[in-house]
Amino acid sequence: EDYNIDLFYDTVLNLVKSAGELIQEKISSRNKFIEMKSNEIDLVTETDQQVEKLLIDGLSEEFPQHKFIGEESVSSGSQCCLTNVPTWIIDPIDGTMNFVHSFPHSCVSIALFINQKPEIGIIYNPMLNQLFTARRGKGAFLNGEPISVSGKTTLSDALIMMEFGTSRDPEKGTVVLENQKLLMPQVHGLRALGSAALDMAMVACGAADAYFEFGIHIWDIAAGELIVKEAGGIIMDPSGEK
Ligand code: IPD
Repeated sequence: EDYNIDLFYDTVLNLVKSAGELIQEKISSRNKFIEMKSNEIDLVTETDQQVEKLLIDGLSEEFPQHKFIGEESVSSGSQCCLTNVPTWIIDPIDGTMNFVHSFPHSCVSIALFINQKPEIGIIYNPMLNQLFTARRGKGAFLNGEPISVSGKTTLSDALIMMEFGTSRDPEKGTVVLENQKLLMPQVHGLRALGSAALDMAMVACGAADAYFEFGIHIWDIAAGELIVKEAGGIIMDPSGEK
């Protein structure tokens, strides 16, 4: 089947911009409506839900055959199922904890997969006006300008992104701290932006050299994967697999 990827791209970009306006409007509020998900540091706000609805409603109105994997829909019971049908994978606000604290590193992260391959990846932080985009085979961009990974090959002068995650499992906590302890004396620096998607975007534009995290979800990395790859980077499983 021939798909009109240009049309999909233009449509989603408009919706992402509206979503960004909503996030920017709400981020400085001191009384956000917040709910707990798996534990007291895994949160969802009403804005996460509104943004996810805005994106899914807008896309399904234009493209009724398309399917969705959305963070908040899955957490309220929808199936997380990737088929060959065009499927939008959505994290409405990646960096929800940042959003809760009005810390300006939060973004919309959305990817389109067709035949289980990424075709479009968009990461948008409206607070800092950073729009990262990629289409398969067409390169990666920041606000329309081409970007590329740093190409650095030595750990000793690398800036590494990592995250602490949203789990309260002590075993996972130990893994995070052990990795930090191991890496700290070997690198230029370690950073955690609080958003997996923005960490990956920093790697894509060469502001950081690598990013790792254990226990990530598909919506955290779906857009970032294409953006990093189109910027010349690689993605792998921590075990070394593809
Ligand atoms: C989380 C953020 C965080 C990462 C977690 C993610 P959310 O996504 O990307 O940086 O450490 O693994 O779940 O919940 O803010 O969409």
